Amino acid sequence: MPVLDLIEKTRDGVPLSREDIDRLVAGIVDNRWPDYQLAAWLMAVVLRGLTDQETFWLTGAMAEMGRPHPALGDVDKHSTGGVGDKTTLVLAPLVAALGLRMAKMSGRGLGHTGGTLDKLESIPGFRVELPIDAIRRQVEQIGVAVVAQSRELAPADRRLYALRDVTGTVNHPALIASSIMSKKLAAGTPNLVLDVKVGNGAFMTELRDANRLARLMVDIGRYYGRRMTVLMTTMQQPLGWAIGNAVEVNEAVGVLRGEGPSDLREEVVRLAAELLHLAKGMPLAEAETEAHQALQSGRAWERFIQWVRWQGGDVAAVEAGLPLGPVTRVWRAETRVTVQSLNTRAIGEVALMLGAGRHRLEDAVNPAVGLHCYLKTGRTYEAGDVLAVVYAMTETAADDAVKKLTAAVTFGEPESVPPLVLGRISTEE
Ligand code: URA
Repeated sequence: MPVLDLIEKTRDGVPLSREDIDRLVAGIVDNRWPDYQLAAWLMAVVLRGLTDQETFWLTGAMAEMGRPHPALGDVDKHSTGGVGDKTTLVLAPLVAALGLRMAKMSGRGLGHTGGTLDKLESIPGFRVELPIDAIRRQVEQIGVAVVAQSRELAPADRRLYALRDVTGTVNHPALIASSIMSKKLAAGTPNLVLDVKVGNGAFMTELRDANRLARLMVDIGRYYGRRMTVLMTTMQQPLGWAIGNAVEVNEAVGVLRGEGPSDLREEVVRLAAELLHLAKGMPLAEAETEAHQALQSGRAWERFIQWVRWQGGDVAAVEAGLPLGPVTRVWRAETRVTVQSLNTRAIGEVALMLGAGRHRLEDAVNPAVGLHCYLKTGRTYEAGDVLAVVYAMTETAADDAVKKLTAAVTFGEPESVPPLVLGRISTEE
């Protein structure tokens, strides 16, 4: 049967049955439905919406078609993406040091947000394409593996996402939630923490919208028997200082060695505590203390080194600090200034402009370029203090980057300073 009746139902606000949704998704996977009809259905969803029940069925159908994996680990994590978000680099070895197993499938960066795989590949030799048996062995031995998303996982999402990208249909909660959750359900992990970024550097700019998305994802998780918690965290400013690839790895290493920016450390500890709470039932306050200790004692750092070695990375290069540059430009405060607000997206675009990110998925990224942005809302800097350092390939690129960075900052007294964690929703409540 063709797909036209399903497009018409959604267009008219008539809920699809489970059989309808299974037929829709089967035709997406085996390419029976042409792009123009799927695009029409997606637009009908954006204009008329889906019921929660339709969203649950859609997510389940997308997760099950293709080849779901037997769970490789106990815990998984996903972030909706932000500027300077290198939490996975610290969180994965940290939770392994806490006795959990994390086998995470990650993606590449697109636009102003970075991707974990690009960051890991800035470590010489680091491999992100591993056979499933090798991933399984690694997770059994050291409790951590981060690899590229398998093409077999939730293939319906791959096709729908590409269509959404070019038809103005990305930004609908039912479509976002089913896209993210189908991949997480297909990966099979029983405990999941989601980091939904909110603010002017994220793809959800309003807390109200983020809340709605978070609740829908938690409802999907509950419907399919997963334990999960969503933290909504601020993207009104970059996370940490480093933005780029090698520069973010270096910063993650700093946090694993007990240094580095406090916002990054705090966020990683909160996420790790949520996973300990979900997987082991540990009270949150106790879980946070455990996570702090694993970072401060160097146990997480040791696990990071093992992890890099197992995936072929050059440990000596990581220990020495990955090279940045070659052209460095330091931006200093000329007078005493306080940061009123930051245009986080524009700061992410500075890294993109320098070559750290990609406009299209087939573009190559440069591991060595990026920046340290020391600006935080509400902080005061004295004349001569370093506000940012840019690592560029050419003098012109460095000058352009500082110019764009300057335009992304407003100085003055802020009305308020954004808290790191803006909200929390869990299947455990
Ligand atoms: N990330 C996804 O995987 N899917 C979306 O729709 C949005 C963000």
